[in-house]
Amino acid sequence: MKHLLKLLDLSGEEIIDLLNLADQLKYERRHGIAHPHLAGKTLGMIFQKSSTRTRVSFETGMIQLGGYPLFLSSRDLQIGRGEPVQDTARVLSRYLDGIMIRTFAQKEVEDLASYGSIPIINGLTDFCHPCQVLADLMTVREYKGSLSGLKMCYIGDGNNMANSLIVGGLKVGMKVSVACPQAYQPDQQVLDFANANGGFTMTDDPCAAAENADVIFTDVWASMGQEGEAEKRRIAFTGYQVNDEVLGAAHADCMVQHCLPAHRGEEITEKVFEAHADEIFEEAENRLHAQKAVMVRVMG
Ligand code: CP
Ligand code: NVA
Repeated sequence: MKHLLKLLDLSGEEIIDLLNLADQLKYERRHGIAHPHLAGKTLGMIFQKSSTRTRVSFETGMIQLGGYPLFLSSRDLQIGRGEPVQDTARVLSRYLDGIMIRTFAQKEVEDLASYGSIPIINGLTDFCHPCQVLADLMTVREYKGSLSGLKMCYIGDGNNMANSLIVGGLKVGMKVSVACPQAYQPDQQVLDFANANGGFTMTDDPCAAAENADVIFTDVWASMGQEGEAEKRRIAFTGYQVNDEVLGAAHADCMVQHCLPAHRGEEITEKVFEAHADEIFEEAENRLHAQKAVMVRVMG
């Protein structure tokens, strides 16, 4: 694995290998066993959008691996003043051992990888959120013992999270059902992959999607960069909420996952969120372990 640009680029075996390594790194961290796999290496972290989890988990993860993280806000980089990503990639490749980038266009991440000569890790684009979904799969496997054959359900916006969950879930052998409003469907490239893969269903009815689910995911109705559409989206997504009625259609021991930040009363009720808080915050913790596994595989 040279980069982590999107889960579509990985095989199911590569995903499982990352989850196995993440489990091992989590065990070692819990037991105080040092693992300086990236001693002396430097990771640049470019952020063109806000972040709590991604920034802190990559930064601390890199330190735990013996390396050094540099937080690079696009407000301060020349990239924020229009320096082309092709030039930024070639310059930063001469200083750093890897780059994690959170930005808008997926093309920018792909360009960094093709013009640079160091590993690139996608820390969220409008298209996908692969690091998050590796942590999500890790968490589901931790609670359920396995992934293959389980039913994953996603309710809400056909956004970056939906795109990565569909691809990641199907690649590890899960069944995936999605409920989105007609006008907010996942990316066509993802739907083409899903429909060719089998095990995928798409509906506009949340309760139908949740039927016999083992895990239900949701995400915000308005993502970063869509703040101006928030009101329009609040109307379009009414009914696309993870609540008691939706959970009633799922298996009794169904998990609930949310990448966070969550908007209680919108995509998820306060009651469901708090009832599943342990699973949701384990998921947040697993960002650290899953991303350390990614860094070891691409930069090690
Ligand atoms: N889930 C997630 O990526 O959180 P941040 O936006 O806080 O990084
Ligand atoms: N879909 C959300 C995920 C945040 C982690 C966004 O892009 O803002």
